[in-house]
Amino acid sequence: MNRIYAVSILALTLAACGGGTTDGAGGGTGGGTGTVNTAPVVAKPNGDQAGQVGFAFNYDASQAGTICTDADGDAISYSVTYNPAASGLVDNAGVISGTPNAKSEITTTITCNDGKGGSAADSFVISVTIDQSAVQTVFNGKIDLENLDAFAGQTVPAYITKLNDGGNPISDPGATLGRVLFYDTALSITNTFSCASCHEQSLGFSDPGVLSDGVDGGVTGRHSMRLVNTQFADEGKFFWDERAATHEAQETDPIKDDNELGYSGNNGRPTFADLVVKLEALEYYEELFRFAFLDPEITEAKIQLALAQFTKSIFSFDAKYDAGRAQVNTDRDNFPNFTAQENAGKALFMNPPPQGGVRCFICHRPPEFDIDPNSGTNGVVRVANSAGFDFTNTRSPSLRDVVDTNGVPNGPFMHDGSLATLMDVVNHYNNIQDPTGGDPQFMSTLDMRLRPMGNILQLNLTQVEKDQLVAFMETLTGQNLYVDPKWSDPFPVP
Ligand code: HEC
Ligand code: HEC
Repeated sequence: MNRIYAVSILALTLAACGGGTTDGAGGGTGGGTGTVNTAPVVAKPNGDQAGQVGFAFNYDASQAGTICTDADGDAISYSVTYNPAASGLVDNAGVISGTPNAKSEITTTITCNDGKGGSAADSFVISVTIDQSAVQTVFNGKIDLENLDAFAGQTVPAYITKLNDGGNPISDPGATLGRVLFYDTALSITNTFSCASCHEQSLGFSDPGVLSDGVDGGVTGRHSMRLVNTQFADEGKFFWDERAATHEAQETDPIKDDNELGYSGNNGRPTFADLVVKLEALEYYEELFRFAFLDPEITEAKIQLALAQFTKSIFSFDAKYDAGRAQVNTDRDNFPNFTAQENAGKALFMNPPPQGGVRCFICHRPPEFDIDPNSGTNGVVRVANSAGFDFTNTRSPSLRDVVDTNGVPNGPFMHDGSLATLMDVVNHYNNIQDPTGGDPQFMSTLDMRLRPMGNILQLNLTQVEKDQLVAFMETLTGQNLYVDPKWSDPFPVP
């Protein structure tokens, strides 16, 4: 019987054992008697190696089978271990290959095994670095791929239970690329507009205008939407009229829209493919795509994934509401940190009419304040800056951060930007008007809960109650959203 010698590899770069030992305990190795097995020895230790994240790595650590010699001519097989982790590397017969996926100093140990219990091991270091010379030049330290902002792993309060990440969870490399794309005016045909032109951090990623200006005098058809807590929702469709099936699908629509960033291909305008060629010429994108996807190729699908990861990463959970919610068991409990007015407004918002409420919560559902996926319209049916009507808008952004930290609205409200203040919003719901002069579509698209028994709901709120509702909605505003540098423009001020 063969005896397997225990192999212990100490923290040495070179180790050998099992050599010259008589396999004494009855029976020879390979059939002989009293055979001595000589263990292999490392003849050509490996030098340290270098790799880069996203670049193919290939190194034959067996050195074409010459790394070890074996005095008794045993066939050598190889095994490789990686410490602290393989970081995307694999090996076969001592040949290490793969695409490293993280900056790391990988202590790599190749062991020569003679099949008879003898072995020898050689350790060397594979230093994986990140190629980011262009990123460092352009962003001057605001983006450092070796020290990423924490987009993934942000704290989400325990009472937040809805999550719609679309199978594209936030990663730090993906969201970092998304941040650059979001702020890059190269995404517009005129090099003058970016996503952030209409989604400003200081306004909860909305726009102060009723409508937003795009390339070449273009104007959007609807008011811009805040981009806050977008993944903490049951509704998976995007835009006011829910025409985008997913967050990812939504993300490149503005790039191709004639009134936004302009890569439409219409009337001689450049196409999305032209944009890809343009981005390919920017060296920082080669580095960023390679880093995020371990492959520098730029595709629309990757742009969607990265932009969606960035917009999904925009969290706001440090509102007065959150401080109160963390101290109680349900959204309906009185919050100890609220004023009496705020608690009264909350009760109005949260409760159905039998409990004295006006049940805003059935459509704007706490604690995420995301929209009910089955909502109809809320009776706001005008087209901005036009005499026409639009009965398709059944989505609302989360009601978090409707106003800024000073209580100033983050842009006008509703798809047509027709309501300037929260009091205007409350007045709308208090007494919903049909502006169409009796178009049957108005009633048929108005959410049934706003027309019980066929009549438009009248809330009959007093001024005190209206003030309470407004005071409550103001508690939904966070702090960090407006100032966190990881959501800010990484480009230097020109
Ligand atoms: C010219 C202004 C403008 C630009 C540029 C722009 N947006 Fe928008 N964005 C809007 C408007 C207006 C809406 C609402 C449009 C609608 O519903 O018809 C919107 C809606 C959205 C939504 C949907 C939010 C929701 O809750 O449904 C997302 C996400 C979004 N934009 C992300 C982006 C990204 C990413 C970019 C850059 C690639 C971008 N936007 C560029 C104006 C703009
Ligand atoms: C039947 C569902 C429903 C109910 C009930 C409801 N809303 Fe809305 N709400 C909506 C929809 C849909 C929109 C977006 C409509 C649009 O822009 O055309 C909206 C928009 C809003 C907005 C503007 C959001 C923005 O980003 O511009 C606010 C604020 C708001 N609602 C507050 C309330 C309050 C307060 C109540 C209770 C008095 C309430 N809602 C009741 C469906 C509802």
